[in-house]
Amino acid sequence: PALTQDDLKKLAADKAVDYVKSGMALGLGTGSTAAFVVDRIGQLLKTGELRDIVGIPTSKRTEEQAKSLNIPLTTLDDHPSLDLAIDGADEVDPELNLVKGRGGALLREKMVEAASKSFVVVADESKLVSGLGGSKLAMPVEVVQFCWKFNLVRLQDLFRELGCEAKLREGENGKPYITDNFNYIIDLYFETPIKDGVSAGTEIGKLEGVVEHGLFLDMATAVIIAGKTGVEVKSK
Ligand code: A5P
Repeated sequence: PALTQDDLKKLAADKAVDYVKSGMALGLGTGSTAAFVVDRIGQLLKTGELRDIVGIPTSKRTEEQAKSLNIPLTTLDDHPSLDLAIDGADEVDPELNLVKGRGGALLREKMVEAASKSFVVVADESKLVSGLGGSKLAMPVEVVQFCWKFNLVRLQDLFRELGCEAKLREGENGKPYITDNFNYIIDLYFETPIKDGVSAGTEIGKLEGVVEHGLFLDMATAVIIAGKTGVEVKSK
């Protein structure tokens, strides 16, 4: 039978867990693909194939999952340097730059992944794009709740030439989605992909009240892509 998208996510996840060794401090990602990684780590701890692992979850959701699997947890305060982080992505470009945060966890993800000696991304081939913002899906920006409209307009103006449309992310009941850090998310939709990710990230970062953005540039050490024809590891 043909492989489903979940099968592909699991293939990438299992391959990534091959990089995990006993004794490591690990960043635990967020999203449906990362959830397969956390599951597998839980299994290997249970069977004793892995020992002495500590994890730092990138969201409350992942924290709950890790706790349910008895994965020992720590924090960046107690453990400022990690051996390896494994996480999904929403978009992956040919240079292994990423868009992340459609699951809303971008801030903690970026903090944890930046603190990691290596960062392995797991994805199915649907995440590959030729340019960031090119999937026509959201590029998230986390903003403080205070005067969010002011920042929505400023973000949209920043990328006017790319035909950017900015929308406040909605959660349940049509109320604004609230992140684990009690902020809002403004999703940017581009007609034309971002040409210069570095300057886009710098410009977004200059806006007061912007907490973090979903461009993860020059952070991934390797990307594991599962497709119908097999699993491919791309690294720099
Ligand atoms: C979470 O905030 C995101 O950065 C996720 O890593 C991303 O949404 C990938 O999720 P899936 O694996 O479910 O596509």
